[in-house]
Amino acid sequence: MRIRTARDEDWPEIHSFYSRIVDEGRTYTLPEGSGMEEARSLWMGTPSWRTVVAVDGERIAGTAKAGPSLPGRGSGIAGASFMVNPEHRGAGVGRALGEHVIEWCREAGFRGIRFNAVVETNEAAVRLWKSLGFEIVGTVPEAFDHVDHGPVGLHVMYRRL
Ligand SMILES: CC(C)(COP(=O)(O)OP(=O)(O)OC[C@H]1O[C@@H](n2cnc3c(N)ncnc32)[C@H](O)[C@@H]1OP(=O)(O)O)[C@@H](O)C(=O)NCCC(=O)NCCS
Repeated sequence: MRIRTARDEDWPEIHSFYSRIVDEGRTYTLPEGSGMEEARSLWMGTPSWRTVVAVDGERIAGTAKAGPSLPGRGSGIAGASFMVNPEHRGAGVGRALGEHVIEWCREAGFRGIRFNAVVETNEAAVRLWKSLGFEIVGTVPEAFDHVDHGPVGLHVMYRRL
């Protein structure tokens, strides 16, 4: 598996699992049911952010994006988002993307990485981020309307670089 910058032609394959993950209603605050173009601009079109893909043979196994979490004087801390194709879960893709993003953010000169909205019931993500050195710095209660559990908390997680 290798990780490289995403290209325009990657989008249809990314979108096939992006929409599955978002529409599932368990992990992301992104709008559900968004079409190809709206979703593309949300995932690939954030100015000054970089989107990467993890490629396994011919298939895109996962994707991540990272960049300044806030403009201006807040731009020294990065934000990032991750999605692994459900068919490729549990095989180390999320961990490889996480390590790649940490290294990229360090090289780009960010002082830390903040995740703004990790759903507290998202056990896989919370365990992965903790194992990569992130800590929960706070939880906004009832901030995410989970499809199974109703309102649950959103963790803010942080790792210093
Ligand atoms: C969270 C996510 C990125 C993990 O990706 P993955 O490729 O399946 O994860 P990996 O195989 O690299 O596993 C890394 C670690 O994650 C944790 N993990 C992964 N799947 C897990 C599961 N089903 N239950 C509990 N922990 C799990 C483990 O700590 C694992 O560590 P290990 O390798 O020592 O066992 C993936 O499940 C995903 O895309 N989920 C939907 C979108 C999402 O939640 N994105 C993150 C939003 S904050």
